[in-house]
Amino acid sequence: MALTEAQTAPRRLDTPDWWRQAAVYQIYPRSFADANGDGIGDLRGIVSRVDYLDELGIDAVWLSPFYPSELADGGYDVSDYRDVDPRLGTLADFDDMVAALHARGIKIIVDIVPNHSSDQHELFRAALAAGKGSPERDRYIFRDGLGENGELPPADWRSVFGGPAWEPVGDGQWYFHHFAKEQPDFNWDNPDVHEEFLKTLRFWSDRGVDGFRVDVAHGLVKDLPEVLPSAAELDAMDRTSGRHPLWDRDEVHEVYAEWRRVFDEYDPPRIAVAEAWVATPERRAKYATPAGLGQAFNFDLLEADFDAAQFREIITDNLAQSAATGSSSTWVLSNHDVVRHATRYGLAPLQGRRVKQGTEWIIAGGPEDQLDRDGGLRRARAATLFMLALPGSTYLYQGEELGLHEVADIPAEQRQDPAFFRGADHDKDGLGRDGCRVPLPWTSDGPSFGFGDGPAHLPQPEWLGASSVAAEDGDPESTLSLYRRALALRHRLQTGEELEWIETGRADVLRFARPNGWQAVANFGTEDYPLGTDGQVVVSSAPVAGAVLPGAATAWLVPSAG
Ligand code: NOJ
Ligand code: CA
Repeated sequence: MALTEAQTAPRRLDTPDWWRQAAVYQIYPRSFADANGDGIGDLRGIVSRVDYLDELGIDAVWLSPFYPSELADGGYDVSDYRDVDPRLGTLADFDDMVAALHARGIKIIVDIVPNHSSDQHELFRAALAAGKGSPERDRYIFRDGLGENGELPPADWRSVFGGPAWEPVGDGQWYFHHFAKEQPDFNWDNPDVHEEFLKTLRFWSDRGVDGFRVDVAHGLVKDLPEVLPSAAELDAMDRTSGRHPLWDRDEVHEVYAEWRRVFDEYDPPRIAVAEAWVATPERRAKYATPAGLGQAFNFDLLEADFDAAQFREIITDNLAQSAATGSSSTWVLSNHDVVRHATRYGLAPLQGRRVKQGTEWIIAGGPEDQLDRDGGLRRARAATLFMLALPGSTYLYQGEELGLHEVADIPAEQRQDPAFFRGADHDKDGLGRDGCRVPLPWTSDGPSFGFGDGPAHLPQPEWLGASSVAAEDGDPESTLSLYRRALALRHRLQTGEELEWIETGRADVLRFARPNGWQAVANFGTEDYPLGTDGQVVVSSAPVAGAVLPGAATAWLVPSAG
């Protein structure tokens, strides 16, 4: 099978079902490409790299927020849902970007942030100005404080990013925020909030976007009793019943049924994918029904070790779950919220490194301490190649195609992530999320490695140059070449959404076949695995000689001709 032939295979996106097995590439716009040299990535920067995206072979781009924002949370604090941040461009630039992507057959998904706005959003400013008991305040979640003059918080809850979840506004009232204090939560019992988002979904759909990634999809609807439970009581409450006061309530699906009616007004219908960190695959499946958002992120692989048994169980469970609900599965190894997978796999398995300090679990040693860079990247390439052969869609995060590692040594004063500053409970290594958001290296030297003409908004370490697009472009062994080859073959080989496990006789080797005979074999162990004569290797994450798959490697096979 000649690669050139595979590369010219058309993207199979001409049906309303395009999303079911798409390879979606996540762009974190402020760190992708900076066209005007101010250190911040922008929409014209994306336009200038459309050929790169085309050649990479992805089917769709998902853009993290590019809306006006005070950047209290990397743009997830939106102050206007229907505009572009002036630092990133204009609506006209957005239209040009959509046109440039569509001209190459690449779809575009934008991020919608409906759980909370920025405290600079006009609706929140109006809520503050209008005062207690006003209809404006009812669009957010306000409560009277405790104590004589409301000087004490209504409850002792902690926010997801650490620190208190209630913030005083100076008149005895407090507002609730799941995340940073600059991100007040909307009150989804208020019809104005519904209207605001229906308008937003139509605004971007009318501008040609193909779909939406829904931020914190499981958080919108709350049901807060008159007397608020304590943080400890809240923590002890069941998250699988659909009745938790804050998370994953069953009523949230009424919101998405309303959105679905809007999506279906368009031809082809707009698509959506839920970010829903819920307790079980069963709870997740509720977000992914055809009457709801249609698809939900499955973060199980992202949370797993490089381990055959974990991979097999996760794959089997999720395929069963998506088949039962009429959705298609999603696979993710990296995104803008977690340590890059090359780095995760270069550290000892999490299970072994979690240690208890007082009442807290911590990860022993900072990421740089015991990092096996080459081993981590080798395992990351193997895991990615295995994931790309799975039925369903796959979400890739910018920079993983270069095999980038996490940047761990960003000085505190240059960090931006509120989770770092507020001491988020889930931030086990204490380093926050800036390390995976460092601007991409396009060239091996020059100011900001070709990201722009000046310094980038987060510091880039020297080693980034060796993993630049320019350095990897012509090298057939590079991670970039591996992704290009695999994505091109994936277009050509894509087939029905099933897989059949093939027993390997080895606990550390997984092998499956898709309906057309396309096979993927992953060796999670260290001993060689003979591939046998059943097929021809078309791509591998490490060199395969004499049909022997080495340890920490994946190969794809297709039926041999004749
Ligand atoms: C999930 C997003 O992925 C993350 O980056 C953000 O901080 C939170 N939602 C809050 O919007
Ligand atoms: Ca810029």
